[in-house]
Amino acid sequence: MEERLRAVDMIIELRDARMPNASINPILKELASGKPRLILLSKSDMADPIATKKWIEALKNENVACLAVDIMHDSSCAKKIIKEALLLMEKKREAKRAKGIRPRAIRAMACGIPNVGKSTMINRIARKNTVKAADKPGVTKSLTWIHADEELDVLDTPGVLWPKFDDEKIGIVLAALGSINDDILNKKSLAMDTIRIIQNHYPGYLEELYDAEKDANPNGILKALANKRNLKKENDELDTKRAAELFLYELRKGKLGRLTLEHAQESDQEVLE
Ligand code: G4P
Repeated sequence: MEERLRAVDMIIELRDARMPNASINPILKELASGKPRLILLSKSDMADPIATKKWIEALKNENVACLAVDIMHDSSCAKKIIKEALLLMEKKREAKRAKGIRPRAIRAMACGIPNVGKSTMINRIARKNTVKAADKPGVTKSLTWIHADEELDVLDTPGVLWPKFDDEKIGIVLAALGSINDDILNKKSLAMDTIRIIQNHYPGYLEELYDAEKDANPNGILKALANKRNLKKENDELDTKRAAELFLYELRKGKLGRLTLEHAQESDQEVLE
């Protein structure tokens, strides 16, 4: 990636709109080297629209454009991405034109963590299935150029995930939204940590959704969910383990409503440097 990065004009960085901080591609932090960036907040159809708007404001600057995308449902999405990429590079292209040089197609590198929707985006802008989309982290293994438009070529790169998480919350958020394999994780404790995050950002939301007590703790929320869906063990006790699995499944599928697990802070500009 480092080698290829030298040959590209700009970066198209996909982040999940529900976790724009945790879903930063870690390699980019070290390698981006001041290239213009188009940050696409993917899966915005599942994110809280107000939170997304705040993220866009927090992330964009002179060298960074930011666009919320719903690649699955918005048929004009590819056009918007191409237009935004051209706009970001327009100053440089105009300078070339002023010198009488016809600018060549922009070369952009697409980066993102596994499952962020990169293959789906590339398929959309290439208008054919050049990249296989799958719900398996790490499916894009090699580097491939895609001719997206007469004026835009996109280099696909493998999805890269953090080798380790210094910040425990990043690990929780990534696992909650299904970006890391959760086979080895304790789902009940993951669900409870996630419930705590949602309760913090959306007070009263889960309580109302599951008819739980007003001041229910995460275990109380799982109990209320188990009760509502009639999830019981053989001895007729509420099955909070199954409730935890159902909660995570429905959260990942966007069935709990449009929720964003990380909200923009004033310090977020720092993550671009
Ligand atoms: P990757 O290359 O970054 O690893 O991700 P990929 O495109 O394979 O997408 C991962 C999952 O996210 C896919 O779902 C894809 O459909 C879904 N997805 C991508 N973009 C969006 C979006 O803007 N909105 C929503 N709601 N979903 C999106 P999957 O579980 O594999 O199901 P399937 O629909 O492909 O069968």
